[in-house]
Amino acid sequence: MNTLIVYYSLTGTTQTVATALGRKLEADVEALHCDRYTPDWRGMLRAGYDSWRHHLPALARVRHDPSNYALVIVGGPIWTFHPCTPVRAYLQQERTRLPQAAFFLTHGGSAGERCLREMETLSRHAPVATMVLREADVKGDRYGAAVTSFADSLRRAESKVAA
Ligand SMILES: Cc1cc2nc3c(=O)[nH]c(=O)nc-3n(C[C@H](O)[C@H](O)[C@H](O)COP(=O)(O)O)c2cc1C
Repeated sequence: MNTLIVYYSLTGTTQTVATALGRKLEADVEALHCDRYTPDWRGMLRAGYDSWRHHLPALARVRHDPSNYALVIVGGPIWTFHPCTPVRAYLQQERTRLPQAAFFLTHGGSAGERCLREMETLSRHAPVATMVLREADVKGDRYGAAVTSFADSLRRAESKVAA
């Protein structure tokens, strides 16, 4: 499958999921980078404030052109009941270059479905599949079945398009 995974991760949870998914789908994987946030209390405060105020940061230049892929999977953490700001910035910036899209989120316990709808609105793409994982389940290594089921949905979506 000609697939790109684009993710943002501040403290490593989403990165764990993106890496596992990338291996399963044999996809290209790209991390979004943004100098504005750091995994310390100051950086997290800034992240929370920006997220709440809908202040979208500048992203470092992305290496992969999403329009070269059949499917782009975008993932990140939830911040203050919204998809994290780097993911929002990416979806807004790249929406005209996105092919089919799928979304995933990691979170501490709330707002998953609402954030998926926000990603759909921002990108103007209805996702072919979605996945929402709790941070505790990722850290406790209880996310493998969800990743397998997400990957299966993506393969089914791809075979429908190919048919
Ligand atoms: C600034 C900030 C705000 C957050 N807000 C929420 C929230 O509103 N709801 C929630 O369930 N988790 C929230 N979290 C927890 C993260 O979504 C969770 O820890 C996520 O798995 C972290 O992913 P990462 O390690 O890839 O950065 C927040 C974390 C941060 C740093």
